[in-house]
Amino acid sequence: MRPVLFKQQAECAHTRTLHGLARVSRSAMLCGAVESLFGAPELPIELFSLRFPNPVGLAAGMDKNAEAVPGWAALGFGFSELGGVTWHAQPGNPEPRMFRAVTEEAIVNRMGFNNHGAQALAEKLTAWRASGHWPAHPIGVNLGKSKITPLENAAEDYANSFRVLRDLANFFVVNVSSPNTPNLRQLQDKTALDEILAAIHEANTSDKQEGREKLHSALTNHRSSKPILVKVAPDLSFDALDQILELVGPRQIAGIIATNTTITRPDSGDANAKRVYAETGGLSGRPLRSRSTAVVRHLFRQTRAQLPIIGVGGISSADDAWEKITAGASLIQIYTGLVYEGPGLPKRIVSGLVARLKLEGLIGLKSAVGIAVT
Ligand SMILES: Cc1cc2nc3c(=O)[nH]c(=O)nc-3n(C[C@H](O)[C@H](O)[C@H](O)COP(=O)(O)O)c2cc1C
Repeated sequence: MRPVLFKQQAECAHTRTLHGLARVSRSAMLCGAVESLFGAPELPIELFSLRFPNPVGLAAGMDKNAEAVPGWAALGFGFSELGGVTWHAQPGNPEPRMFRAVTEEAIVNRMGFNNHGAQALAEKLTAWRASGHWPAHPIGVNLGKSKITPLENAAEDYANSFRVLRDLANFFVVNVSSPNTPNLRQLQDKTALDEILAAIHEANTSDKQEGREKLHSALTNHRSSKPILVKVAPDLSFDALDQILELVGPRQIAGIIATNTTITRPDSGDANAKRVYAETGGLSGRPLRSRSTAVVRHLFRQTRAQLPIIGVGGISSADDAWEKITAGASLIQIYTGLVYEGPGLPKRIVSGLVARLKLEGLIGLKSAVGIAVT
């Protein structure tokens, strides 16, 4: 498939592939067939009181509008992060806005949170739940800020999205690290982030609901609060990361996702890669790998292994996943690796991790987390 897909513009190939998986997702029989080809072995881990059948997750941005929710489980993923979603529906930046640097196995994107909005996502998730095709793995939702909302109103914008989605997913990610919404990354500043987390925390712990939800709450006696994670940029200094960590206790952050795409660029001798790297946007894939691992390692050290970390950035093999896990990640995610390595990647990574654990004489994934950190 790759030569055919790579002849098309990156976003066009993405859209077509996603539509294909969405079609599969609507049929239990097709999902079963895909799962028999691509389903991964079990390598379970429990975090945030959720059971992950394996540690390989779909990274945010691949399925922004929840078009293929059951399909990701059939492809062997142990969890998926849907979105980024914003309170207001928005078209994102003008196309083209996604570029492949094939020789470097990298992507530059400046999508700008193109999505149908939180309300539409809530309806889509409700429909998937009602269809009986809801996957057996945890589902997260990545929350971004609407472009039209000024920075000073960001907290309300995030909290609005959270409120309509709270009961429909297993965990939530506050994304303040995308480089493609003007000034968004300023929200990684401790004071600004604190305000967002406070607003979400309030919505997360409040039981005040209207109508049917109120009745449901009365019947079940409580609505459980959801784990809230924060996703950080690879371009933050270690000092800035430490400032974010100061909010973990007070705002009950359940974990950190490290990392989003980078605005930095590596040197390249390849003419196409040079052209792609000259585009504005965030860089993902192989060139991001070592920096994102360094961020994972730093967070693991600073938190003395007490805070779950999801490692993401440049993972395209079991060895890359092992690097992130032994640097301190309890779970990992992939986006760009899937584009270059294809749908067999989750299964290959999980199988490779199972073999590696055996080789090292380790029992269970948790025993490998952070073992390379001194
Ligand atoms: C086209 C594209 C869109 C993305 N959209 C989002 C997004 O909406 N929210 C987010 O937190 N990260 C987004 N990301 C970042 C990925 O989730 C991931 O953090 C990053 O690509 C690094 O992982 P990778 O090297 O495996 O791709 C996007 C990445 C790409 C390539």
